[in-house]
Amino acid sequence: MSYEHIQVAPNAGVGAFVDGVNLADVDEPSLAELRKAFADHSILFFRDQELTEQQHIGLAERWGDINVNRFFAHVEGYPQIAQVAKEPDQVNNIGGGWHTDHSYDQIPALGSMLYARQTPTRGGDTLFASTCAAYDALSDGLQETLQGLKAVHSSRHVFGAGVDRGDLSDRLGNTEAATQDAVHPVVITHPLSGRKSLYVNPAFTLHFEGWTAPESQALLSYLYQHIGRPEFCYRLQWAPGTLAFWDNRATWHWAINDYQGERRLMHRITLEGEPIAA
Ligand code: SIN
Repeated sequence: MSYEHIQVAPNAGVGAFVDGVNLADVDEPSLAELRKAFADHSILFFRDQELTEQQHIGLAERWGDINVNRFFAHVEGYPQIAQVAKEPDQVNNIGGGWHTDHSYDQIPALGSMLYARQTPTRGGDTLFASTCAAYDALSDGLQETLQGLKAVHSSRHVFGAGVDRGDLSDRLGNTEAATQDAVHPVVITHPLSGRKSLYVNPAFTLHFEGWTAPESQALLSYLYQHIGRPEFCYRLQWAPGTLAFWDNRATWHWAINDYQGERRLMHRITLEGEPIAA
């Protein structure tokens, strides 16, 4: 597709960089093209954006309804914005392993707009993977086998009461909210693109429905290493002013924790999704 109002440069792997748009003030024709680019590329990256908290919220609200995060600390005065921060004296980071957000919800969140406010002098990149490209690359036989499966997802072992989160406790504190589990098809049809997507992830998927965890482990491990193959991935180097907008139903992400002793501060707004199905 060609675009008249924005410039879209697709990456190898997953996602596309978008140029020619000021996210603080997007006109309607550009917004329509952004929606199309988001469906086509699953992640949009923007450089050099200057957004106040209110402008970040305004952008998200024009896209859809905001999901107020029930686990993360929020930016003071802005409950809609989750604070994804790591201070110089903290060791653990938020999101430091492959995952897709909210798969433990009955209706998983659409995705997040993550905006970089402060980045380390080096490191702190985020890896993204395409679960649609990974599905497309499977054999017909394995695609057919997976079509019939569902998987159980949970947040309890990550956010629940009694879980040792080390120095993440202050940033991920609300154990009362970690009560939701969900069952989803292993292969979903993406609600925007119609593409098939592998909807399992190492952080929140427990096992296939009707299978034990040990029985599920071998096949899940195969799928996890397959989705993480480099040809389905893109590694984003952040700078202050970079915004990444990813689709949880088509991607995984991993915030790399390689900047000990430095501060990284991101503001994340998550958008409500819609029911997902095979
Ligand atoms: C997250 O998992 O939402 C955090 C991603 C990041 O900080 O890069």
